[in-house]
Amino acid sequence: MNFSSRITGVGSFVPKNIFTNHDLEKMMDTSDEWIQQRTGIVERRWVDQGTSTSDLAVEASIEAIKNAGIDKSEIDMIVFATLSPDHDFPGSGCFLQAKLGIPEIPAIDIRQQCTGFIYAMSIADKFIKSGSHKNILVVGAEVHSKGLDRTPEGRNVGVLFGDGAGAVVMSQCSVSDSSKDSHFINAHLHCDGSYAKELWLPAPGTGFDEPDRMNQKMLDEKLHYPYMNGKTVFVHAVKRMSESLSRLCAEQGVTIDDIDLFLFHQANLRINSKIAEMMNIPEEKVFNTIQKYGNTTAATIPLGMNDAIKEGKLKPGMLVASAAFGSGFTWASALYRF
Ligand code: UT7
Repeated sequence: MNFSSRITGVGSFVPKNIFTNHDLEKMMDTSDEWIQQRTGIVERRWVDQGTSTSDLAVEASIEAIKNAGIDKSEIDMIVFATLSPDHDFPGSGCFLQAKLGIPEIPAIDIRQQCTGFIYAMSIADKFIKSGSHKNILVVGAEVHSKGLDRTPEGRNVGVLFGDGAGAVVMSQCSVSDSSKDSHFINAHLHCDGSYAKELWLPAPGTGFDEPDRMNQKMLDEKLHYPYMNGKTVFVHAVKRMSESLSRLCAEQGVTIDDIDLFLFHQANLRINSKIAEMMNIPEEKVFNTIQKYGNTTAATIPLGMNDAIKEGKLKPGMLVASAAFGSGFTWASALYRF
């Protein structure tokens, strides 16, 4: 028997605290004008101190499971993408599993940063296609705010990132008419580790010539905050996202006109506009959320998916394309009929 997977439920959650660019002007040497012109971001959500990544994921997951119309006991695996886990180990999927109260099912953490959600969907799709699993909870969640340098020195990265969570349930299905029936079509996953240090969080880590994973020297050098070579990342993001999506479309015999909605990663409005221009995608088909959430890395695509549903822009039967790029460098594209 041939199995396929499809998205049966979507959920998302963002913390209530809104930080506008003007709020950030009070913390860092930055301006609303600079942030909006360079990135498109107007505001982002940041958690209060009692909230963890898996806490945000719980809320998104409950909504996704409810919208899938199943009981949580029918979930048979969790795939959790995050770069800001509750703790170094165990993975945040373990914490989420306990909080949801669905013991014994496997939980896999994915560490592919901004590309994490597409990797996670692709892995869930493969498990479902193998016939071993039926309803997989796929989550992307981040609490960036607790890991950002929010002092004047941190403005390069600190203004870009926001907190949030998104989740989908991917369930087994059969497809009789692939031009109409909802299903996950395919994803292309990529990585080039030679660029790992262009966007990374060095410490804590074993990759130092030091006896400990973390020490005062690393703290003094601020190695526990993310570093990004923004210009290099920008150029590679535009090239790799468009290249990956073009190849996937060619493989599937899909044209840009066939695609109803583009749900891209949200790192910079200018990246997505450039990709739209290069690929001749009408701007109105690209659904952007960066203005209100900033870059929420692995949470971005499912968060956008749920907003698009709520705004009536994503409807059953639509052909959707996603692409993402991030630390690793990793990048990916996916095509799915919603
Ligand atoms: O999701 C993961 C993938 N991430 C991305 O795809 C991000 C890709 N990169 C970008 O989006 C852009 O490179 C940034 C938005 C990060 C930066 O934009 P940019 O146009 O590349 O600016 P820049 O880094 O070249 O900085 C230009 C100037 C610098 O000042 P000088 O050297 O020209 O005097 C920076 O110091 O802007 C300064 N600057 C700021 N000014 C005000 C940097 N950050 C800020 C800030 N506020 N927050």
